[in-house]
Amino acid sequence: MAQFPGLLSISDDEFKEFQQLIYKAAGIHLPPTKKMLVVSRLSKRVRHHELDSLQAYYCLLTDNNHPEEFQIMVDLLTTNETYFFREPDHFTYLKQQLLPNYPREQPFQAWSAACSSGEEAYTTAMILMDVLGANRAWSVLGTDISARMLHLARSGVYPLNATSHIPKECLSRYCLKGVRSQAGTFCIEKKLRERVKFQQCNLNAPNYPRLPNFDLILLRNVLIYFDLPTKRQLIHKIIAQLKSGGYLFIGHAENLSSLTTPEINAQLHNVAPTIYRKKATAE
Ligand SMILES: C[S@@+](CC[C@H](N)C(=O)[O-])C[C@H]1O[C@@H](n2cnc3c(N)ncnc32)[C@H](O)[C@@H]1O
Repeated sequence: MAQFPGLLSISDDEFKEFQQLIYKAAGIHLPPTKKMLVVSRLSKRVRHHELDSLQAYYCLLTDNNHPEEFQIMVDLLTTNETYFFREPDHFTYLKQQLLPNYPREQPFQAWSAACSSGEEAYTTAMILMDVLGANRAWSVLGTDISARMLHLARSGVYPLNATSHIPKECLSRYCLKGVRSQAGTFCIEKKLRERVKFQQCNLNAPNYPRLPNFDLILLRNVLIYFDLPTKRQLIHKIIAQLKSGGYLFIGHAENLSSLTTPEINAQLHNVAPTIYRKKATAE
């Protein structure tokens, strides 16, 4: 039984139950080192429902009568850290190498596949607007499993301190400082927001909602939460969503080398650190 001062206790078996629940729902592997995280994040829901234990909360989650509570549990157990221009090498590559050499005829479609509160999707849109401009057809789709994060993303409103990594010229072109009741925040400019849509998508669901094939998929800082079989399955699905010649960016701390099967190798090649391209012949 794990006891954390001031928090509810959790037995190994109870932790295993939550571990299995989130694995089944989202493919997220919670190692035993995350026990305290589970207890601290879920305790408030136990109190909210006036229950006396995490076991009682588990029963409520699995009684099939509380789908909205299930979503709240998923929201609470996901890690949503993100910021504008995170891992900027990807955006430099997009601006300086990928876009200038990409065929001009087709609309350019990008997918931020675990977009959290939207910063990655809007950063991508800033670069696309800078390079392709307002007259070319391009769009960005942001998806995530967390309904709470998607709500924030759709609002396009962020605290002012979130501007710290945004280059000055992007700040002046695409971000509007809030006044009066919006003081202390900024919002993403309408012209950019119109090009970015958000939708819920569980990357590990057997089927995705209807999605187009993309020129660029950003799958950054999410693979780390999945175990090897889940990652492998996901990469196959991601490759299927890429246009032939399309690009995949993964997080700087992630790599595909442990995942690659002959099938993956036949379809993707590594063009720069953490940047992959779908081979032109692999549809
Ligand atoms: C650490 S954030 C990464 C955000 C952004 N990609 C970045 O690099 O800054 C991880 C995101 O993955 C999402 N996530 C976790 N499991 C998921 C799943 N099965 N399907 C879709 N999104 C998932 C979480 O909700 C979270 O918002």
